[in-house]
Amino acid sequence: MVEISASILDAKEEEAAKTFYNLEVAKIDYFHIDVMDGKFVEKNTVDKMNKYGTLLKQISTLPLDVHLMVEDVETYIKLYSAIEPNIITFHLEAIKDKEKVYDMINLIKENNCKVGIAIKPNTDIKELYEFLPYINMALVMTVEPGKGGQALIPETLRKVKILKEYLRQKNLDTYIEADGGINLNTIEDVIESGVDIAVVGNGILKSDNYKETVRKLKA
Ligand code: DX5
Ligand code: ZN
Repeated sequence: MVEISASILDAKEEEAAKTFYNLEVAKIDYFHIDVMDGKFVEKNTVDKMNKYGTLLKQISTLPLDVHLMVEDVETYIKLYSAIEPNIITFHLEAIKDKEKVYDMINLIKENNCKVGIAIKPNTDIKELYEFLPYINMALVMTVEPGKGGQALIPETLRKVKILKEYLRQKNLDTYIEADGGINLNTIEDVIESGVDIAVVGNGILKSDNYKETVRKLKA
């Protein structure tokens, strides 16, 4: 069954605690924390996500799934390790040299977190292959990173299918996460492509009944 990682990027500050509580009651599997530095992508969510991460650590026991959309990966791994995430994911596009990718993988592991690597819609899935044996999760972006509420780009699910088949052939148990534009209208295609963890933001936050929406997303 697909797991749901709820993106809290677009959760309203005034009612954050209540929203997080309602998401947990609705039986999401992870909280997805979107860290944007204003450089890798235009928006800067560092302060907001610091606040949300700290709050979640106090009020929830659910695992935290940190998605770093930042240029300076090393600094943010160190910063976000403080909230003891289950997994930290960084973007392959943020790192120019291969050795550095392995350094970041090791740094995350040293901080006792699982490791994810994300790729943008235009990055070839093959770029990820050599790192797959060393990481726990591949995050295939289904929209351009930068903001919530965008429409899923259907071609990105072709990459998920190719990756799924590659993992099967190589006997690897790396999870596949998809992120962006996932809602009740697109979830079927997402699951069918082979995704293990679906990130859902507005698809839940804009719905009237979180519980029902999460139940339907998983059904
Ligand atoms: C986009 C973020 C996503 C996004 C998900 O840059 O990484 O996590 O906020 O939100 P929805 O589900 O609204 O597309
Ligand atoms: Zn994300």
